[in-house]
Amino acid sequence: MGSFKKDFTTEDDKNIKNNEDEPLNGPAGFASSKEEGNGTEGRQDSFDNPVRPTCFDEYIGQTKLKENLLIFINASKKRSSVLGHHDLDHLLFFGPPGLGKTTLANVISHELGVNIKITSGPSIEKAGDIAALLSSASNGDIVFIDEIHRLPKPAAEMLYPAMEDFKLDIIIGEGATAKSIRISLPRFTLIGATTRAGLIPSPLRDRFGFSSRLEYYETGDLAKIVIRSAFLYGIKIDNEAAFEIARRSRGTPRIANRLLRRLRDYMFHLKRDAVNFDVAKFGIENLGIDELGLDNNDKLFLRTIIDKFGGGPVGIETIAQAINDEKDTLEDVVEPYLVSCGFILRTKQGRIATELAYKHFGLKKEDFLF
Ligand code: ADE
Repeated sequence: MGSFKKDFTTEDDKNIKNNEDEPLNGPAGFASSKEEGNGTEGRQDSFDNPVRPTCFDEYIGQTKLKENLLIFINASKKRSSVLGHHDLDHLLFFGPPGLGKTTLANVISHELGVNIKITSGPSIEKAGDIAALLSSASNGDIVFIDEIHRLPKPAAEMLYPAMEDFKLDIIIGEGATAKSIRISLPRFTLIGATTRAGLIPSPLRDRFGFSSRLEYYETGDLAKIVIRSAFLYGIKIDNEAAFEIARRSRGTPRIANRLLRRLRDYMFHLKRDAVNFDVAKFGIENLGIDELGLDNNDKLFLRTIIDKFGGGPVGIETIAQAINDEKDTLEDVVEPYLVSCGFILRTKQGRIATELAYKHFGLKKEDFLF
């Protein structure tokens, strides 16, 4: 048996009830679930992460995507009165890490009232792992595969008939006596997530009934997320600080929530009882996060292109070597936001730092030309 067993989790027996008695809004300007904010108060919910929304009502941002998903979910729930189970089509979410692809899969399973089985491309070693995963599902279950672009080829190929016809073709035996048998699967819904839609083989991509990119969040939406998370963590925060965190979080809820937790530490260090603007400013500066939310890693990446490679073009492998980082991490985690800021261009010849990138560091491109 392959490794999916060890990595594969299900929400079946977790308590998925929120503590719905607690209002989400704290006192005006401040948000806190309890008076004493030691960080352990707040809601205990279904997922490992206490601030992760469990339903669409709690999910902030990605408005258009949310609207579409609700339409599909409601329609498929309506059809379930005839079929006995929903028939939501397979969904693919792509985009940079930290924008909520896994959260959305959990929210969808909650909205449909079904179980979710969670695994990831790298933890599936062979086609048999896919067979075991899918055949253990029940009608209506969500099967979530994170980093689906990293599925081994035989496993991805086993998904084609499974997604299309809910059948598996299994080869029994070897050589001349080998036989192919077809087994029926439960009517599952696959949700795939990837940071690299371009690496998904097109026969797999084509079998998703709906694909959507998750966009970077607007500052206003991120600020709402920060206020909500602060309330759930039991941290007092004012609106000004929440906006400051939002502005410096590269449009990414995971970064905003992490920054909020770090600022809680600075709040204790500074002996304050709330994360206010001064605490936020102090912490953000200490962490080396700049005006646009670029952290030391982002800055090192850009400055390496500018200082060591004349602004480029320079290959990603060369940059990775120069800063002793992984090429994949740079491509998936660091570059997307720098591209969205207009700081780098990804060309066939390599990465190029733009005029805007030079300007961000108070430099002029022409000063670097020999
Ligand atoms: N925490 C992380 N992502 C969130 C979102 N989109 N809405 C509310 N809280 C979140």
